[in-house]
Amino acid sequence: MEDKIKKIRKILEDDLSNIKELNNLLGLKAKYFGKKGLITELTSNMKDLSIDERKEVGRVVNEIREEASSKINALEKKLKEKELALKLEQEKIDISLPSCKLKRGSRHPFNRIIEDVEDFFVSQGYDVVDGPELETDENCFRLLNLPLGHPARDAQDTFYIDEEYLLRTQTSSVQARTMQSNVDKTPIRMICPGKVYRRDEDATHSHQFGQVEGLVIDKDVSLADLKGTLELFAKKMLGKNTKVRFRPSYFPFTEPSVEVDVSCFKCGGRGCPLCKQTGWIEVLGAGMVHPNVLKMGGYDPNVWSGFAFGTGLDRFAMFRYMIPDIRYLYTNDIRFLKQFYRKDEENEIK
Ligand code: DAH
Repeated sequence: MEDKIKKIRKILEDDLSNIKELNNLLGLKAKYFGKKGLITELTSNMKDLSIDERKEVGRVVNEIREEASSKINALEKKLKEKELALKLEQEKIDISLPSCKLKRGSRHPFNRIIEDVEDFFVSQGYDVVDGPELETDENCFRLLNLPLGHPARDAQDTFYIDEEYLLRTQTSSVQARTMQSNVDKTPIRMICPGKVYRRDEDATHSHQFGQVEGLVIDKDVSLADLKGTLELFAKKMLGKNTKVRFRPSYFPFTEPSVEVDVSCFKCGGRGCPLCKQTGWIEVLGAGMVHPNVLKMGGYDPNVWSGFAFGTGLDRFAMFRYMIPDIRYLYTNDIRFLKQFYRKDEENEIK
């Protein structure tokens, strides 16, 4: 027995001095303490021994077991520390290095206008709704009192996809959608900002542009409500000194219809090239919802009334930021967009 233990001790010393890596330690533990391990085997013929002999063998085996396990554990601890130190060294980062400069974006002028419009109308209790740009002829025209062959269709050069589908020419299509989808026929107060498409393009027109539509349906809604709402809206968007005037006009989906002008924000109404010396700039179309439109939307015109309005978002952006060509808003030229970076928004831009 003594010899066996001496031999094991010798093998253990050799093993311990040879092992340099943590993952080799696992095999080492099995070599001594596993089922067929060198130390486990010392007790294999215990049952053939006398009680006294067993006691003695047990004691000696325990001794060598404890000795081996404490030596292996000590080595394990040492190797772990070594490994950690190595990892820390390898993963060290030099925090004194200058970082690469992150390029910050800025909010598109168009989105800023939309946010302001939404803020105003949400504060007045309106919902902001959405509608598809690929629209049906029915929602874009027929349900808005523009049957096939109606001359006012010519005013909006339409991109047709096929007989029924088109790219919407006006966000007014969302009026039709909102009335239809409101199955309980409850009051409506909504705005819908979005893109629309028409087949013309020059410095003041783009084949794509932005509009906001508004629709209010309730009992006893009058032209005075429309005027009050749009006056407040114009002042909020263009400044509290803005004057507003309403001119009679024609739209197929409203009766009576009006066009809304605001006093020129460049010259304050005195007359300048921007307002073509008139002192006024047209910004909105609006009116009382036509009884036919109410009827087709499922609202009884004898019970319900409403007003609607539509405005070009681009015009607000062009006026507010003095943008000379509407196409700048859609071509995503980074040099143009960079000008709208505002220091005070730094924390908001994520
Ligand atoms: N849809 C019209 C256009 O694109 C604008 C408009 C005028 C919308 C009067 C309305 C309205 O809701 O009542 O020119």
